[in-house]
Order: sequence, then C-alpha cells, then structure tokens
Amino acid sequence: MDKYNVPFNKPFITGKELDYIADSVVQGHISGNGLYTKKCESFLEKYTNCDRVLMTNSCTAALEMACMLIDLKPGDEVIMPSFTFVSTANAVALRGATPVFCDIDSRTFNLDEACLSSCLSDKTKAIIVVHYAGQSCAMEPIMRFSKKNNLYVIEDAAQSVGSYYQGQHSGTIADFGCFSFHETKNIMCGEGGALLINNPKFIQRAEIIREKGTNRESFFRNEVELYTWVDLGSSYVPSELQMAFLYAQLENLSQVIKQRKIIFEYYKKHLSKLETKGFITLPEIQSDNKPNYHLFAILCRNIEERNELIDYLKDNGISAVFHYISLHSSPAGKAFGRVDDAGLPVTDNVSECLLRLPVYYEISVDIQKYVVKHIFDFYQGR
Ligand SMILES: Cc1ncc(COP(=O)(O)O)c(C=O)c1O
Repeated sequence: MDKYNVPFNKPFITGKELDYIADSVVQGHISGNGLYTKKCESFLEKYTNCDRVLMTNSCTAALEMACMLIDLKPGDEVIMPSFTFVSTANAVALRGATPVFCDIDSRTFNLDEACLSSCLSDKTKAIIVVHYAGQSCAMEPIMRFSKKNNLYVIEDAAQSVGSYYQGQHSGTIADFGCFSFHETKNIMCGEGGALLINNPKFIQRAEIIREKGTNRESFFRNEVELYTWVDLGSSYVPSELQMAFLYAQLENLSQVIKQRKIIFEYYKKHLSKLETKGFITLPEIQSDNKPNYHLFAILCRNIEERNELIDYLKDNGISAVFHYISLHSSPAGKAFGRVDDAGLPVTDNVSECLLRLPVYYEISVDIQKYVVKHIFDFYQGR
C-alpha cells in the first residue's frame, strides 16, 4: 500500500472565491456591509428560514453579541457544557457573568438535559447549548426547561451550518444561533461567523452592537440624518473580502455536506468490526437529527490507548487529533466558572478518550482505506 501524508483537515476551495473577491474590489467596496455581506445574509436567511441573519467576523463575535443582547451582567449565571471551545465561556465571562458547567450525554457529547436542574440557581439567566460535530442537542426538552424557568437560550452552532433537528435548521430554534466560518468548518472564509436572530425584538439593537454601538445601519437606510454612538458595541462587521469568499462557498453548501456524508459513512461501515470487538465506540446519529457530518469522532477505551493511537497514526503520516480540554479543568475555567460538587464524569471521560479522524471534502477512498487499515493494525493483537 502507498504511504500517504494525511492532514486532519484541508480547506476546500470551490473555484469562484477569487472571482467574487475581484468583483468586490472592482465595485470599490471592500469594507463591511456591502453587496456580498447582504448576499450571504439573504442566502442564510432563506436556507435556514431565519428572520434575520447578521454576518460577523467570527462565531466568537456572534456569541459575544448574543450575550450583550440579553444584558448579561456580573452576578448572572449561564449554564453550558464544559466540553466546548473557549469562546462559549469567554462570551459570558467577558460580561462579568459566570459560566456554570454542565455534563454531557455520552452518546452525542452534547449537553445532557437531565443535568440542567442541578446547575440551576436563582442567578441563572441563560443556557448556551453547543451542537457538537454538527449533531444538534435535544432541543425539545432544553427549550421546555428554559421556558419553565424563564431563561434565554443561545445555540452555539459553530459546527452545525447545514444541520437540522426535527426538521428545523440548527441555530433557529432558540433565541439566537451562532455560526462559524473558520477555516476548520465545512464552509469557511478563513475567519467568519453569523448571528441568527430568532426573536425580531432583538434585531435593531443587534445591528447597533455590530456597528461599534452606532446607528450606522439606520443611517445607511436613510432612517436617520446622522449616525452617532447610541449603545455599547464593538467591531463585529466582517470585510467584504471575507464575505465574497464565503458566498462562493455557500453556493456549494449542499454538495459539501453530501460528500462529507459519504466520507462519514465509509468510516462508520469499515470501522464497525472494531466497535463490535469493544475497542472503540463510533459516533451515533440520533433519529431526530439530520447532521452536516462536520466531524468523525470515535471514543477509545482510555487516555493511554487514545494517545498511543494518535502517535501510531502520526508515525504513519496520519493526523488524527483529540478535542477539547474540558473548560472546568482549565485555569481560566476554574477562575471564571463554577461546577457542581458531583463533577462532570462524562465530560472527563470524553475529553480523555475522544479522537477525531481526518475528514475533508477531497479525501479519497484510497486515503480513507489507508486510515482504516492503520487503525486495524494498531488494534491487532490487543
Ligand atoms: C463550539 C465552538 N464555538 C465557538 C467557536 C469559535 O468559532 P470562531 O473561530 O468562528 O470564533 C468554535 C470554533 O471552533 C467552536 O467549535
């Protein structure tokens, strides 16, 4: 068998990115909120069936905006998984509020709705859910819990553009959804994001927060004569260069997901024997989910074996990687967050045992065969 060098991720370039960037340059508008920003927003509003989408320069920015919009302040608490990227918690801590870390479901690695009650206090103001690997959380019970306790819900849908839960697009179920178009995502523009606003009462203030706290968007719509500083805000508008690039990618969203499904199913089928033998656990898609196949994450039996497998694959030119160091175990998580005395046993185990295999649009069957063969070789004789 040929030896390959297999990256973990390889950004897919669809072919029209440079044409659209050139077009934005020729049109003489490369700062924010121009033609391509509006094209991306219209595309996503139609695709996801959302009232208003605001493009941002990252998912981090969208999360920060959502936390400003619900007026988070010192003393407030926000329930979220510990098994997530730092931006989920930073957005809360930056407002002086406290992230309260909740355990996850061992099958989906998403927030476990059964653990919500133990995280609730009279200070809880919101829940941030994270749709891990493009599979949506159990939004039905989570939304029921939030309504009963009068909480806002923000969907960190960084990884789930193109994913559906019970027929609804991820990010459109709660008050807000936050998308990422970082280079590592299915559809990307280097750095980029979007805020989905599902409650129209937040739209006007969101536009102001995105424009450094000014009513500049109203000014551009000729609604006011001058624009000025009217609220808190920051620089969350992406450049037209990013949005021109992204629009070319969005045009190929369905095709990209279709191809990733094929890649996902290949791994699932060809690694199933190792699961039957009890060496690994394969990802499980819940029946109410239609995911975007963002990641293929397996669980190993323990951290030692997981790390040995990483090294073995690396020695054979394959880059397979672990994922989040749980936030409740991190220095900043300990300083800014809080966790129940019972701890987060599922999170601890998943953080230690999870391994992500290479998935990217252009991965060939031969390369997937090569990856699978080396995983089998590793477990030979164990
Ligand atoms: C769950 C989650 N939230 C937020 C982010 C931050 O996204 P961005 O890099 O677009 O700010 C990421 C990035 O990988 C993520 O995985």
